[in-house]
Amino acid sequence: MQTTHEIRVGDARALDLDDASVDLVVTSPPYPMVEMWDESFAAQDPAIGDALEAGDGDRTFEAMHTLLDEVWRHVARVLRPGGIAAVNVGDATRRLDDTYRLYPNHARVIDGFADAGLTQLPGIIWRKPTNSAAKFMGSGTLPTNAYTTLEHEHVLLFRNGGTRGFPPGDDDRYASAYFYEERNEWFSDCWEVRGTRQRLDSAAVRDRSGAFPIEIPHRLISMYSVRGDTVCDPFVGTGTTSLAAMVAGRSSVGIERDADLAAAFETRVDAAPKLSADIAHERLENHRAFVAARDEPPAYEADHYDTRVVTNAERSIRLSRVTAVERDGDEPSRFVATHEPI
Ligand SMILES: C[S@@+](CC[C@H](N)C(=O)[O-])C[C@H]1O[C@@H](n2cnc3c(N)ncnc32)[C@H](O)[C@@H]1O
Repeated sequence: MQTTHEIRVGDARALDLDDASVDLVVTSPPYPMVEMWDESFAAQDPAIGDALEAGDGDRTFEAMHTLLDEVWRHVARVLRPGGIAAVNVGDATRRLDDTYRLYPNHARVIDGFADAGLTQLPGIIWRKPTNSAAKFMGSGTLPTNAYTTLEHEHVLLFRNGGTRGFPPGDDDRYASAYFYEERNEWFSDCWEVRGTRQRLDSAAVRDRSGAFPIEIPHRLISMYSVRGDTVCDPFVGTGTTSLAAMVAGRSSVGIERDADLAAAFETRVDAAPKLSADIAHERLENHRAFVAARDEPPAYEADHYDTRVVTNAERSIRLSRVTAVERDGDEPSRFVATHEPI
């Protein structure tokens, strides 16, 4: 099997993809009101720079989200019927006009998606590892003027219309099944993902990329798409979503306005063969450990692996690894990955 991966340097507000051409969107936008993204937002809309300059928190917040809204409308347009959009976003705290306050990005993104016509589904709180030293900064230990620390982000989930249809017994869908115990963990509404894999090599790129750990898009792609699907990230940054799609045997297209960040993907793909094999083997090992720890052996025999599985639907699970990644012709940012089952 082969998958294709394209990173386009450009503006997601002008997303040039056909209607209903994408099976899943996984993305993390620049977070409004988080200082590291001020410059990027202001460069895209001078009114945002003016609002920041004026110290007007409400106007800045709304203008930044109005920019994101343009992208959410494209997301709704390019998603196939039944396709899912998964958006990782954190709220922001800031003192812009002398008042320290919360800017609830997740709530405003929900409004943006509702206006774009997508249906919100139950989402996930991603509880992030925190730096406990920062917790009490500025607050001391006296009531009543301390603030709670933001230790979580959101993964918001939306769907384009009703559930996605599949032909009965669809091979790609059954091969893409997840293990019973993975389902129990992944479909919890609270994740504690620490991100121990695939660190970005360059500290400079890492510091200014806002990259999420690959475990986040990899899990979402495994939950909401099937083998051979196309995953889109309109704010792809260093290409973490595209790498996760490649590792999971899905095609991808990513858009990024910062050419330097987008270029990181070209070196990150080198890790795909080892990363994909590691993830596939680890999933299988974890599953075998789960089976071994049960009092009774699970009811079914897996078709392709020497293990038992809890549900009939898991029997045809087929894990794969990337065997080669090649540039597609002369295009610097198009890659073809070859996959084989493990
Ligand atoms: C939170 S970061 C995404 C990081 C990414 N998930 C990763 O793992 O590297 C948001 C990205 O959106 C990009 N961006 C901001 N505005 C954009 C626009 N209008 N079109 C495309 N990309 C944009 C930023 O340059 C930044 O790289």
